[in-house]
Amino acid sequence: MTTADPFGRAIRDFHRGEQDEPLIDRDGEETRVHPIEDFYFGTFDRDSEQGAWCASWLDGALLDMGAGAGRDTLHFQEHLETVAIEPSAHLVETMRERGVRDARVGDMFALRETFERDRFGSALAIGTQVGLAGSMQGLRRFLSDLAFVTMPGASAVLDGYDPNHESEDLLGYRADPTRGLAHRVLHFEYDGDVGETLYFRLFSPDRVREAAVGTGWSVAEVSTDAGYYRLALTKELLVVAAVVRVDLLHFLLIGRFDLVRACFGRKSEHGEGGARGIEFVLVGCEVGRVERQS
Ligand SMILES: C[S@@+](CC[C@H](N)C(=O)[O-])C[C@H]1O[C@@H](n2cnc3c(N)ncnc32)[C@H](O)[C@@H]1O
Repeated sequence: MTTADPFGRAIRDFHRGEQDEPLIDRDGEETRVHPIEDFYFGTFDRDSEQGAWCASWLDGALLDMGAGAGRDTLHFQEHLETVAIEPSAHLVETMRERGVRDARVGDMFALRETFERDRFGSALAIGTQVGLAGSMQGLRRFLSDLAFVTMPGASAVLDGYDPNHESEDLLGYRADPTRGLAHRVLHFEYDGDVGETLYFRLFSPDRVREAAVGTGWSVAEVSTDAGYYRLALTKELLVVAAVVRVDLLHFLLIGRFDLVRACFGRKSEHGEGGARGIEFVLVGCEVGRVERQS
C-alpha cells in the first residue's frame, strides 16, 4: 500500500508482456535479479510431494495471504472458496486478469480489522512474508489475529527461512546471536521506482512454536528443505470440560438440599466449594467461540 510499488508493478508488467527492465532486489551494493517467471508464474502442482503436503493441510474457506500473482489461489479456488489478499494494487489487478475470482487489497497484519470472526477454515502464506511480522511479539499478534478470523479446528500453512541453517548467502541476511532468530533487509527497484526497505525477522520452526503458545495455534508438522521450511499449524477445537459430580446430582435428585449445601460449603480435596465423589469430565463437545487475547 505504498505509492512506489516496484515489486507489484514489475510482476504486473511481466504478466502483460510489458516488462522491459529487470526487477532488482537490493541490499546496499549487493543486488540480485528477481526471477519473476520462476517464482510466481508456475502452476501449483498438487501431485508433487510439496503440493500434496500443502493441500493435505488446507480445508474449508481459504485465505491466501500475500497471494502474489495468484499461483496458489488459481489452484485452490477450484477446490475451496478462496480469498486472496495483497497489499499491492498492481498484484490484485494481475490476479484478477489471471482469473482469480476473489482478489482484494489487504494486509495480512491487519486481519482482525478486515474479516469477521471465524470467517475461514484455513490459511496460506507462501513466500516468507510472515517474516514481515518483524518480531516475536509481531508474530504472536499475527497468529492471534489469524486465530480470530479462522474457525475452531482451522489449519494454516506458512513458510520461512530457518536461521539455524547456514543462510549467509541469502541476500540481505543479518545474523543474530540469539538462537533461532535472524534478520533480513532488502528493497526492490524497478524501472525508476525504489521500494521501501523491507525488514524481515527470520524465525526457526521452534521460534514459531514458541510464538504460537497462547494464540490457539500449535505447530503440527514441519517440512524442511535446505534451510527453507514450510510448517502446518492447527488451531485447537474449543472444548468445554463439564464436570458432573455424581454425589451432587444424586443429592439433588433425592431432594437432600441440605447435603447439596454442605457440599458447596466444604473445602475438600477438589478445592474450595468442591464436592467429594466421582467426577466425569465430558470433553470434546465443541460449543462455540472464544475471543482470543491478542
Ligand atoms: C514472495 S511473494 C509470494 C507470493 C505468492 N504467495 C507466491 O508464492 O507466489 C510475497 C508476497 O507477500 C506480499 N506481502 C507483503 N506484505 C504483505 C502484507 N502485509 N500482507 C499481505 N501480503 C503481503 C507481497 O506483496 C508479495 O506478493
